[in-house]
Amino acid sequence: MLPGVAGVRKARCIMAEMGTSTPWTPDSWRNFEARQMPVYTDAQALADVEKELQTYPPLVFAGEARRLKNELAEVASGRAFLLQGGDCAESFAEFHPNNIRDTFRVLLQMAVVLTFAGRMPVVKVGRMAGQFAKPRSEPMETVGGVSLPSYRGDIVNDIQFTPEAREPDPKRMLRAYMQAAATLNLLRAFAQGGYANLRQVHKWTLDFVGSSPVTKRYRELADRIGEALSFMEACGVSPETAPQLSGTEFYTSHEALLLGYEQSMTRQDSLTGQWYDTSAHMLWIGDRTRFPGSAHVEFLRGIGNPIGMKVGPSLDADTLLRLIDMLNPDNEPGRLTLIARYGAEKIEAHLPQLVRAVKKEGRSVVWSCDPMHGNTIKTGTGYKTRPFDRIMMEVRSFFAIHRAEGTHAGGIHTEMTGQNVTECTGGAVAITDETLGDRYHTHCDPRLNAAQALELAFLIAEGLQQELAGRAAA
Ligand code: PEP
Ligand code: CO
Repeated sequence: MLPGVAGVRKARCIMAEMGTSTPWTPDSWRNFEARQMPVYTDAQALADVEKELQTYPPLVFAGEARRLKNELAEVASGRAFLLQGGDCAESFAEFHPNNIRDTFRVLLQMAVVLTFAGRMPVVKVGRMAGQFAKPRSEPMETVGGVSLPSYRGDIVNDIQFTPEAREPDPKRMLRAYMQAAATLNLLRAFAQGGYANLRQVHKWTLDFVGSSPVTKRYRELADRIGEALSFMEACGVSPETAPQLSGTEFYTSHEALLLGYEQSMTRQDSLTGQWYDTSAHMLWIGDRTRFPGSAHVEFLRGIGNPIGMKVGPSLDADTLLRLIDMLNPDNEPGRLTLIARYGAEKIEAHLPQLVRAVKKEGRSVVWSCDPMHGNTIKTGTGYKTRPFDRIMMEVRSFFAIHRAEGTHAGGIHTEMTGQNVTECTGGAVAITDETLGDRYHTHCDPRLNAAQALELAFLIAEGLQQELAGRAAA
C-alpha cells in the first residue's frame, strides 16, 4: 500500500514544517531536541568511547533486520502475531546465562501457545541483548533530603544512591556492548542449537499447567497442543525430521534512547547502501521521546531497521499521523509497530480513535499492546507494582477494540522474566502486597514472572481465537 503523489507531497510538507527536510545522517539527530539523555561531564571521554564503539563489530546484520521487517509485514497484514518481551532494564548485576535461558524459554512457551491458538506464525522479539537505557520521570531522585541524578540504566550510571555511582560514565557503554554481544551469542545458540525443540518447549508448558492452579480452559488448550504434536509425529513430522520444529528465529530489540551509542552502532549496509542500527534487529522510541521535533524521531527515521513507537494517552490522532509520515513515509508494511500503553482504565477512551485514523488514512502498521506501562502503581509498602488483573484487563480491551474496528490485534509487548520473581501482584499463584518483598529484583519496572507470563499467553490465545472466529463469521 503506497501513498499516492499527494501523500508523498503531504509527507514532504510535514517534514519541512517539522524542520526535518534536511537530509538524514547518522548524527543529524544532534540538531534536534534530545530529551532523557544523560549529561556527561567529560566530553572527551564520551567522544573517545563513541569512537571506539564505531570500530566494534556489528551485533546484527542488515539482512536479519530486513527479514524481521518482512515477518512484521505479515503481522501488519493480519497473518502473524508479534510477541515482544524481556526485562524492563537489563543490568550488569543480573547478567547470567540462566537468566537469559529462562526468559528465552518462557518466550518460546508463550509463542507455542499463541501459534496454536492463533493458527498463525508468532514473530519472537526479545527485549534483550541491549535493553539498558531508561527514560525517567524525574531527572533527580531525592532520598532523606539528598538529591542525586536519577538512575538511567546500567549503560549510563549505577543504581546505588551515591554521588559517584550516579555520575554518568561513558565507559559503561563498552561494558553494555560486551554484555549485549555475549547475550546475543547465547540466544543465537539457544534458537538454533536444539534448545528450542518444540516437543521440549511443550513439555515445559505441561509441567507448568500441572503444577499451577490455572483454570481448566488453559489445561485443555495445553492438552490439545500435545495432541497436535503427537498427530504430527505420527505423520512423520517431528523435531528430528523438520528443522522448523527443532529451531526457531529469535530477534532482539531495545529502546533507542542513548543516541550516542546507537549512532556509533549504525553502519551502512554494503548490499543496499541503506543505514542500519546494528545494535539490535528492532529499535523503538519511548513514550517520552516520541514528540515531533524529537532527536529520537529524527534518528529512527533514517535507519532501515523495523522500528516501534510507544503510543500513550498524550498522543492525538493528528500528531500520530504526522509521526507516521516521518517514520514510515513510504508506508512500508512491517516498518512501524505502534505499541499502545494506556492502562486498563484509559485504553477505551484513547485507542479506538487512533486505530480508526490510521485505518482511514490507509497506513500500514502493526498494532501491539504493552499492558505494563500504564498499569504501574505504588503499594502502601512502597513497592512499584502492577496488578495482574489490570494487565489482563488492558489486554482484553485491546482485543475488543480491534475486533470492533475490524483491525488486527497484532502483538503483545511485555516486561517479564523467566525467574520466579515477585514484582507484579496477582496471578494464579497470587502474589500479594505483603509478599512483593520476597523476590523483588528488578532494576526498574516490575516484571511478570514465568508463571504470570504464561498465564497471560493463554489469555491472549483466547483473544486470538475470538478474532479468528470473527473473521470466519464475516
Ligand atoms: C519501557 O518500555 O520500559 C518504557 C519506559 O516504556 P514507555 O516509554 O512506554 O513509558
Ligand atoms: Co519499563
